[in-house]
Amino acid sequence: MADLELIDCGDGRRLERFGGVIVERPAPMATDAMQLRPADWAKPDLRWSKGAWTRGAAHDPWPVAAAGLTFECRPAAGGQVGVFPEHAASWSWLAGAVREASDRLGRPPEVLSLFAYTGGASLACARAGARVAHVDASRPAVAWARRNAELSRLADAPIRWLVDDARAFVRRERRRGRTYDGVVLDPPTYGHGTGAWQIDADLDALLEDLAALAGRRPSFVALSAHTPGYDADRLAALVRDGFGVRADGEPLVLRARSGAVLRLGAWARGGAR
Ligand SMILES: C[S@@+](CC[C@H](N)C(=O)[O-])C[C@H]1O[C@@H](n2cnc3c(N)ncnc32)[C@H](O)[C@@H]1O
Repeated sequence: MADLELIDCGDGRRLERFGGVIVERPAPMATDAMQLRPADWAKPDLRWSKGAWTRGAAHDPWPVAAAGLTFECRPAAGGQVGVFPEHAASWSWLAGAVREASDRLGRPPEVLSLFAYTGGASLACARAGARVAHVDASRPAVAWARRNAELSRLADAPIRWLVDDARAFVRRERRRGRTYDGVVLDPPTYGHGTGAWQIDADLDALLEDLAALAGRRPSFVALSAHTPGYDADRLAALVRDGFGVRADGEPLVLRARSGAVLRLGAWARGGAR
């Protein structure tokens, strides 16, 4: 049985299994009615409600396997547990893109992973043979990603762990004349950093700097977002126009065991492949 499973969603809530642990959290986009009976929702191990863990706040960290990686999950701030299951499919795509790029380039591709959180995309690329710059503005998130690298037997992989503002790091790399073969980013709607990140105000300039770093024809680009208005077509157009490559977009969707469907944003991928 897969370690990541959406059991049901509806009435503004989602019920999921991460390894052996059942988690219930809000899902404002789950506007239909729940499919399962109230009894099936009654006793999750963890419940996040009204801004706090109201069940399982003291739960010990536990391991969860996905896409050949191992993640440490735990009840964390904001109702997160350390993995965004809707990204698991993109990690498999990234691994394939890295392998193709290695074959084409005849060397390990250099990958820049921004807003990299607990490391899913960075570790998927490293496991497939890339050299990775992992950038996140949150020191605890970078420490968590390093823990996931250890659990995934990638502690010695060529990953640079960088606590930095994505915009500032990319501008500095551009001034230094650095280049990258692949770029992956999952910008939040709002974030941290000097003059906090706002996707509407900051994404265009970031993509322009990234396109300069990635050169005329990057091996691959993956851009995801969970912000209303950033649908698959818009993200694909941003990748196509920004990087001058072919690109496809698709919604990020989780299908529940109950038959319910949860839409969680979109992603676009493209490149020289
Ligand atoms: C939506 S999460 C990314 C989830 C990740 N892609 C995954 O699937 O595991 C957004 C991340 O962006 C980081 N972040 C927010 N503002 C930032 C900034 N200005 N520069 C770099 N990282 C930032 C946050 O710390 C957080 O880890």
